[in-house]
Amino acid sequence: MPILDAHALEFFSRSPEQTRRLGMRLGGLLQSGDLICLQGDLGAGKTTLVQGMAQGWGAMDAVSSPTFVLVNTYRRPDANQLFHFDAYRVESLGEAEELDMDTLLAQGPLMVEWPERVEPILPAERLWVWLEYESEEHRAMRFAACGKRYETLLDDLRRELYGVD
Ligand SMILES: Nc1ncnc2c1ncn2[C@@H]1O[C@H](COP(=O)(O)OP(=O)(O)OP(=O)(O)O)[C@@H](O)[C@H]1O
Ligand SMILES: [Mg+2]
Repeated sequence: MPILDAHALEFFSRSPEQTRRLGMRLGGLLQSGDLICLQGDLGAGKTTLVQGMAQGWGAMDAVSSPTFVLVNTYRRPDANQLFHFDAYRVESLGEAEELDMDTLLAQGPLMVEWPERVEPILPAERLWVWLEYESEEHRAMRFAACGKRYETLLDDLRRELYGVD
């Protein structure tokens, strides 16, 4: 994990519900073009956070781990789309390149699990989230903004969570 600075935020979750609530706050702030990278071991809570983000964003569809396809698409009544890419099973960067993340990002926000597996082809500007297992129901999370848009996003999230700058 990187050293904490002004462009980072730490959060400690004590339950899956708390992780989902945090995700909802973040999801409500997402715009088309936003890239959210979720790094953490199996069971760290990446998909749980995605469930909250999709709900906060307004998705009508239930979140599941992409299995047969690498990317799940969730829709909103206004026809906007939210993309969920799980890079766990990606076998090569070429395979990931075929997904054409730039085209996805032009159409909606994109959340990526196991982003470290495809890091060389990810846009440099993004919100990176590290999730760490602490104990059965406890998870530590650290958010780091790379780029102006994500500094703003993190400031807005901080304000939503704590009501201060
Ligand atoms: N504080 C917490 N936050 C998130 N999940 C938690 C928490 N406490 C317990 N859990 C449990 O841990 C599990 C997290 O699973 P989840 O599918 O979100 O992990 P993941 O990081 O997506 O794993 P994978 O790499 O397999 O996709 C769930 O069963 C959830 O209920
Ligand atoms: Mg998952």
